[in-house]
Amino acid sequence: MRLIFLGPPGAGKGTQAQRISEMHGIPQLSTGDMLRAAVKAGTPIGQQADAVMKAGKLVSDEIVVGIIADRIDQADCKSGFILDGFPRTVAQAEALDQMLLPRGIKLDYVIEMTVDNGALTERITGRFTCAKCGAGYHDKFKQPKVAGVCDVCGSKEFSRRADDKAETVGARLDAYTKQTAPLLPYYRGRGVLRQVDGMAAMDEVTRQIEGVLGA
Ligand code: AP5
Repeated sequence: MRLIFLGPPGAGKGTQAQRISEMHGIPQLSTGDMLRAAVKAGTPIGQQADAVMKAGKLVSDEIVVGIIADRIDQADCKSGFILDGFPRTVAQAEALDQMLLPRGIKLDYVIEMTVDNGALTERITGRFTCAKCGAGYHDKFKQPKVAGVCDVCGSKEFSRRADDKAETVGARLDAYTKQTAPLLPYYRGRGVLRQVDGMAAMDEVTRQIEGVLGA
């Protein structure tokens, strides 16, 4: 199964990709996570991406296309993958088509998470993760069971993303509207676009995605 999760920042792509990845045993390929790892490691790609990401702008097509082209050839992607945050421009979608065609791979679904933009700032600025295992939390929507302790690994250290600041959210939403939203007609025209209600509770969003996959 080959899936793309599409939606503005904070729509729930990462949350749902992690769940569907575990349920179906296929990897979640998040270009955001890969870029943040490159920034942390101080690689040449990370050095180029750091300031661009902090400003809420998109990293160059060339960089992200190169990252994904390498990743989908790895053994764990043989039976499928979920693209989370890629493609994000029409040029990236065209490059993806060019990657999949010679490999004989077809996209099954592009799942759009529809959301009310007004809710996104609260979702983004309230997000935090366990610094040790990466488990995701939210100040209001998903608190650890014991305050200050990670449910998964018990760590007491948490971190927040450098681009999850209220002043950066506007630039990220603007990039989505101008550069990523044109992918909706692109994939609608190919008959693979499906929508789920990203404003519903997390479990309900998962149920709707499962409904699409089982259809
Ligand atoms: P990336 O890491 O992809 O971030 P994003 O697209 O901005 O998306 P987010 O991770 O912010 O949100 P999400 O939709 O995954 O929501 P989440 O599930 O976490 O990209 C970051 C940057 O990297 C970009 O700005 C760009 O610079 C660069 N980049 C990455 N890919 C690129 C590409 N292809 N081309 C160029 N540049 C690229 O949920 C958010 C919060 O809400 C969480 O706390 C969660 O608990 C909560 N939540 C989720 N669902 C619900 C729900 N149903 N109800 C209530 N709360 C919910």
